[in-house]
Amino acid sequence: MAIEQVSFANPWQRVLFEAELKHKHALVLAALTLPGETLAAYLCLWLVAGEAQVQNLAVNPGFRQRGVGRYLLVKGLDEARRRGAKVANLEVRPSNLAARRLYASLGFFEVGRRPGYYQAEGEDALLLDCDLTTAPFLPPLAG
Ligand SMILES: CC(C)(COP(=O)(O)OP(=O)(O)OC[C@H]1O[C@@H](n2cnc3c(N)ncnc32)[C@H](O)[C@@H]1OP(=O)(O)O)[C@@H](O)C(=O)NCCC(=O)NCCS
Repeated sequence: MAIEQVSFANPWQRVLFEAELKHKHALVLAALTLPGETLAAYLCLWLVAGEAQVQNLAVNPGFRQRGVGRYLLVKGLDEARRRGAKVANLEVRPSNLAARRLYASLGFFEVGRRPGYYQAEGEDALLLDCDLTTAPFLPPLAG
């Protein structure tokens, strides 16, 4: 919750994380330090009808810009693809340059825009997709 609070203008509440952990379509990954098991990052995906929908991704501010976000997202998308996802999608603020650069580096591309989606600030959401069947950052599927 502490990471969530410092990472987003509209942070998820605890009940949302609890629901996510129980949701049958959810895939939740956490990156922990060794030793110590400090939470370095978390990723929440929904796997629905061949799509991996990125619901949440945040890196502990003390661990940013060390490749943790990219590592966790690649792990999550690889697992999603192994479970049948063909495409990944997400929403991101135009002003979130760090996240946009991360997504662009993995082959996400803009497919649309939701005007005023982030209501508090009146900011649009960019809609991004990534084709998991051709994504070069994912290892070949066995078999
Ligand atoms: C966006 C976020 C997840 C990136 O995590 P991270 O672990 O710091 O990112 P990485 O170290 O894996 O960096 C991957 C790429 O992202 C981009 N990037 C990351 N931080 C950046 C920054 N501060 N400025 C510009 N680009 C940045 C770079 O392209 C980087 O690649 P490079 O290192 O080869 O230049 C992290 O900043 C975060 O938690 N932000 C707050 C929550 C958030 O915005 N989540 C996404 C919601 S859509």
